[in-house]
Amino acid sequence: MKIIAIANQKGGCGKTTTAINLSAALAATGRGVLLIDLDPQAHATFGLRTKTQPADKSVYYALTDNPEKRRSLDSCIVNVSPNFDMVPSNIKLSTLEQELKDKEDAVSGLYRILSSCPSTYEYIIIDCPPSLGFLTFNGLRAAGQVIVPIDMSPFTLMGVGKILGMIELIKMKVGHAPGVKALATLFDKRTKFSQSMLDEVRTFFGDQMLQTIIRLNVALKRAVSAGVSILDFDETANGAMDYTALSGEILRLDRVEVAEKPVASFASVLVPEKPESSLPIWEGTEKWFNPDVEEVTFTIEAPAAKDIYIVGDFNDWKITDQSRLSRRETGSWEKRLGLPHGKYRYKFVVDGEWTVDSKNPEFEQNKFGTFDSVMKI
Ligand SMILES: Nc1ncnc2c1ncn2[C@@H]1O[C@H](COP(=O)(O)OP(=O)(O)O)[C@@H](O)[C@H]1O
Ligand SMILES: [Mg+2]
Repeated sequence: MKIIAIANQKGGCGKTTTAINLSAALAATGRGVLLIDLDPQAHATFGLRTKTQPADKSVYYALTDNPEKRRSLDSCIVNVSPNFDMVPSNIKLSTLEQELKDKEDAVSGLYRILSSCPSTYEYIIIDCPPSLGFLTFNGLRAAGQVIVPIDMSPFTLMGVGKILGMIELIKMKVGHAPGVKALATLFDKRTKFSQSMLDEVRTFFGDQMLQTIIRLNVALKRAVSAGVSILDFDETANGAMDYTALSGEILRLDRVEVAEKPVASFASVLVPEKPESSLPIWEGTEKWFNPDVEEVTFTIEAPAAKDIYIVGDFNDWKITDQSRLSRRETGSWEKRLGLPHGKYRYKFVVDGEWTVDSKNPEFEQNKFGTFDSVMKI
């Protein structure tokens, strides 16, 4: 399961257009996609309104900790088209920050609920609001990748440092470092200005720049007004071609990443770096960070397995959807978990068979006389 946040605090740079149409284009290739509208202005929800049933559903209900309002993420999902589901938003989402302000780890709320999301989705796309507040932080914390749409307009690079700074801050505070890719949007090939902006943006981002360029295309605007994705509105439009090309590039990059990744050791732990100076990127947010939680990736090579779970002290040794590993194309299986510091015993359950982690030399005998793998964070 790949989680991609579309984020930039600048409004009007093409976040929502990218979230909707990248989701639709990935779904058109047969991948299961879940789009999460994380903007209280609900533009993505509006942009797909004619494809969904009207319902009182919002990501707010999955994130709130008010027991009377809280619902499972599953119950907030609506279907858009084959392979394409979404979690809508509504204005209630704007009250969430205030509601959760005293809750220690509220900033990881989305991360936690997505860790238990049905593994039928290959891609989860998060449309972030145009700000660097609590909701965007939640989106970036949950994502493995961030796409930053950069529109070809004057001053576009001026604010980019802030979103990159926030990503750095997340790395320092919670030890999570999503990969960053920049996407050129609203590119008008008729103007010299667009071309010179593109050169500037490419110089700035280097190999973090996606090769696909999203051209200015009025059909993308009309599709929003019609409440459908560009693929449903006019699949011959430049916008449909560009977002199809973008989905192809994302799929290619993911394949390369899987192929190039060295065989992981029993668990790779991202250790948060110590902040050298406090960055005034998002003031007043310190209380949401939980520096004691580390992200741990459990991996096991089992190309022929049908189902693998991770069980241990951290999940009461329970086999649930949340403990299921995701299968990579290479045949290795993976599960990311955020775990507080401590010592844990664990095992993999491979097609019903309980087994120690063969890549981990640390194990201890348990009360049944067999062995558990052991890790310390
Ligand atoms: N490539 C494009 N060509 C033409 N119009 C676009 C394009 N991308 C976005 N737009 C329009 O620009 C406006 C802002 O885009 P949107 O995706 O809502 O930005 P954001 O979510 O970053 O605020 C919308 O009216 C949208 O329809
Ligand atoms: Mg938007």
